[in-house]
Amino acid sequence: MATKFVKVNPADATDVVWEGELGDAADFVSATAIARVAQRGWSNVPAPVRGRVIAQVGRLVEANKQSLAELITREIGKPIGEALGEVQEVVDTCDFFLGEGRRLYGQTVPSEMPDKQLFTFRAPVGVVTVITAGNFPSAVPAWYVVPALLCGNAVVWKPAETANAVGEALVALFHAGGVPTEVLQLVQLDGPTTEEGLTLSLDAGTVDKVGFTGSTEVGRRIGALCGQHLQSPCLELGGKNPMVVMPDAQLDLAVEGALFSGYGTAGQRCTSLGTVWVHRSVYDQFKAQFVRALESASIGDPLADVLYGPMIDDRFLQRFLGWLELVEEHHTLHGSTGTGQITSANPRSNFVGDPDAGLYAHPTLVDGVTPSDALYATETFGPLVGMGVFDDLGEAIELANGHGYGLSASIYTTSPQSVWRFREACSAGMLSVNNSTSGAEAHLPFGGNRKSGNGSRQSGIWVLDQFTRWQSMNWDYSGRLQKAQMDTAELPWNPGFRLSAPVGG
Ligand code: UN1
Repeated sequence: MATKFVKVNPADATDVVWEGELGDAADFVSATAIARVAQRGWSNVPAPVRGRVIAQVGRLVEANKQSLAELITREIGKPIGEALGEVQEVVDTCDFFLGEGRRLYGQTVPSEMPDKQLFTFRAPVGVVTVITAGNFPSAVPAWYVVPALLCGNAVVWKPAETANAVGEALVALFHAGGVPTEVLQLVQLDGPTTEEGLTLSLDAGTVDKVGFTGSTEVGRRIGALCGQHLQSPCLELGGKNPMVVMPDAQLDLAVEGALFSGYGTAGQRCTSLGTVWVHRSVYDQFKAQFVRALESASIGDPLADVLYGPMIDDRFLQRFLGWLELVEEHHTLHGSTGTGQITSANPRSNFVGDPDAGLYAHPTLVDGVTPSDALYATETFGPLVGMGVFDDLGEAIELANGHGYGLSASIYTTSPQSVWRFREACSAGMLSVNNSTSGAEAHLPFGGNRKSGNGSRQSGIWVLDQFTRWQSMNWDYSGRLQKAQMDTAELPWNPGFRLSAPVGG
């Protein structure tokens, strides 16, 4: 049964951004069945022609950059500067993959037998379903949809309920760019219905690959479901991303990096900073600078020049307020004139706009985090950063790995030795040196390990392995049955040969 859904602007509850019906599980199944049929025709379109379509989509997204970014700000509250950056990430992704249509290389491989040739080809996987989160409503979907289409797959995309309007806008741009409507379909469902629809579609054999960005908890369920069908999904899950500040770090730079990665996007990136670990010798100085920077940061109206705007929606705000309960007696809080929701009764200095019109949260810096605290290993999607002390790099690396996530990690140092030791020992999929934990570029492998994912990687050439399967072919033109490993030739050699005297003497 279809249910009504309304999404309001999180900065202005009177502004209805999307209103419509959410579908049911049968809608999901029928979209995947339609995709199954459409995919055959799409995979017959030559890859360079599909690449042209991606080029057209990229140009259209670029031409609509401002209006798409404004819609992102309106629907999920991301400050306009960041929203423009997010749309740029869609353009960058198209720019990378438009040329891949002319590569999509396979190999020619020598055979162990004469008159026989070996080849490899990249074959599309088939029907891809993409399920994405609300924090990056256009860039992260594009990381899946663009390469999946380029490789000859059909896609059924279920955007976050918090980002239905952006979902519709982005799909409209893909269709206007030349992607056939049945090759890329949007389904608007809630989370539980999506899982039901996915279960039914996998049973019906209409889904070949799942791409999921969201929580570790849901990722585990999707992984288990796909595993029953012998499928390996592309999972991009949570993080508790550490930043290590060494005694030789440039402290101003580290403070700036911590401020942006911890509080940019209101801390609602999967790459947001979780805990900053600071060497004891610079702890007090770093803390004083960080607290000052946080207290003086502008927060509020996402159309203004602010560090961050509202939470994505009320569910995100409520969950964040719940995580504040993990603060313990031995912690001290800094960064704002209050904690919890920002309202006229619980105000924040340096607030831009009317706090009561939207869903804003105070930034919170939790000082004194230790590895036995719940906050150490809990992803607190929101403007909360933990801070703790270490005495040597070995200890910092243990702290950086010990929470069980492995998405992104950063180190601030001027020592090459510290950089290389950190690189070797840190278990995160993405590392930054003297830069924020967030803000990965669109053509490097994106993804995490352990609780952050199953090892799949998005972006760049690496994502091709998610959306194609290697197919090998051997072609024997000898006119007889040559048997591998049995009909092989060996040239004569002399295994006992040794030089009798040193050469050259
Ligand atoms: C996410 O939060 O799911 O690296 C993606 C970054 C962005 C993408 C984040 N380019 O922070």
